[in-house]
Amino acid sequence: MSSKNNFETNNINSTTPPNGALTEQITYVKHYTDRLFSFRTSRSSSLRFRAGEFVMIGLPGNQKPIFRAYSITSPTWDEELEFYSIKVPDGPLTSRLQKIKVGDEIFIRKKASGTVVLSTLIPGKNLYLLSTGTGIAPFASLIREPETYENYQSVILTHTCRLKAELAYGYDIAEATYTDPLVGSEAKNKLKHIATTTREESPIMGRITKLIKSNRLFDILDGNPLDPKIDRVMVCGSMDFLRDSKSMLNNMGFKEGSHREPGTYVVERAFVD
Ligand code: A2P
Repeated sequence: MSSKNNFETNNINSTTPPNGALTEQITYVKHYTDRLFSFRTSRSSSLRFRAGEFVMIGLPGNQKPIFRAYSITSPTWDEELEFYSIKVPDGPLTSRLQKIKVGDEIFIRKKASGTVVLSTLIPGKNLYLLSTGTGIAPFASLIREPETYENYQSVILTHTCRLKAELAYGYDIAEATYTDPLVGSEAKNKLKHIATTTREESPIMGRITKLIKSNRLFDILDGNPLDPKIDRVMVCGSMDFLRDSKSMLNNMGFKEGSHREPGTYVVERAFVD
């Protein structure tokens, strides 16, 4: 298991947070499947982030804390923080993280960063957010960011998982967005949530790359195929998904963006696997 920006910290007393980390409290835990769960934490006022960014999180304990990158799924205006995680039975962090309970403490590094933020894309008309598995995490924050709806005429969130039960967090987030007092009315007009499965029967089946290449996605949306002149794309998921999406988008004439040079698409991997 490896992830970008992972690091371990030598800390003599691991109940005090390492430099640059805050101690927060778990306020809510929801288990979705035996492999997936979400949790919420308190949020110190000094923790600021942009929708789509990730922070490093770790757990206090007897051993030196292991930190892993986690995208923040909650909106920037939320007084708490929310995260969505996979459970890896022998994972250095998730083997313990999956057992957290309300009231437990967690370390969160203050510095947030990431590529799937609004400023890495040049202006466009439609924003496509393509995710697989826990890759939906940064988009859960972006679809509740008012600026997303100021910048785009439509926002299309796609979430592909192997099984139907693995789509549940996406449905919860979409529902929370449509009923949200701040962005709900904009989201009802502009946000479309497309959930697909690949290994279990469901209303829409297939990998999103296949649904895009075959134009099936655009039939469902009653829209036009991807066009780099007006469409902008963010991609988050497994390394294989990122690689195939990049090659598909490059072939269509899209240009990858970065903080230094915004483009027509950007990618971020889902960190913990
Ligand atoms: P599939 O079942 O056809 O492999 P994983 O759990 O392996 O990360 O996969 C999550 C979802 O992402 C699955 O539905 C999987 O489809 C899909 N997926 C995996 N790799 C790719 C890829 N290279 N391109 C598109 N979708 C992918």
